[in-house]
Amino acid sequence: MGRAPGARLAEPRRAGGEAVPRRSSSSLALGLLLVLACGPASSAQPAARSSPTSVPIPTLDPGQVSRGRVVFGQHCASCHGVDAHGTPDWQQPDGRGDLPAPPHDDTGHTWRHSDAQLSEIIRGGLRDQFNKTPELTMPPFQTDQLSDQQISDVLAYLKSLWSAEHRQFQEEQNRRPPIPMPSPSAGGG
Ligand code: HEC
Repeated sequence: MGRAPGARLAEPRRAGGEAVPRRSSSSLALGLLLVLACGPASSAQPAARSSPTSVPIPTLDPGQVSRGRVVFGQHCASCHGVDAHGTPDWQQPDGRGDLPAPPHDDTGHTWRHSDAQLSEIIRGGLRDQFNKTPELTMPPFQTDQLSDQQISDVLAYLKSLWSAEHRQFQEEQNRRPPIPMPSPSAGGG
């Protein structure tokens, strides 16, 4: 009571204590609600998702997976790493401004793309958004380098690295109508 009103204005949010306005209790409640709504579902309960849109996960043919592993070792592992672990700092652009090769296991985001999109990336190569050079960030693999069968084998291998949850998600993408992707060689500059 004995405090000058000006003193409060000078340091409005310092100690928190009595200066906290009333309505913060409702925003705190909202924050808690958000935490409750988003928190556990995203991390703590991997297998709990049983949405009505669940689709059956096709079984992988072990023979195809091991053929795919060989293709991967010959054509992809030099950049994407042994066992598709990727480059350690794959989210940081390198000196040239390019993104390094990402992992294809659960820690990457390959599982977010449909088979059709993945085949298109492998066939056409990829230009990342920071790349201002004439080359693509990832080289294209044309039919004289990889057959359609080899691409499908390599996709089977990548799928064998994913959790059931990610395989489920990817299978749902396979059943969506295709989203057209911009051609990586179109830009260039
Ligand atoms: C010369 C290095 C290099 C080789 C060889 C290479 N890649 Fe890549 N790949 C990259 C880079 C770099 C990126 C990331 C580009 C970006 O993020 O924009 C990438 C991205 C990808 C992506 C997209 C991942 C995503 O989540 O968006 C897929 C899929 C992929 N590569 C598959 C393959 C496969 C399969 C092979 C072998 C047939 C292969 N790559 C060979 C460098 C390479």
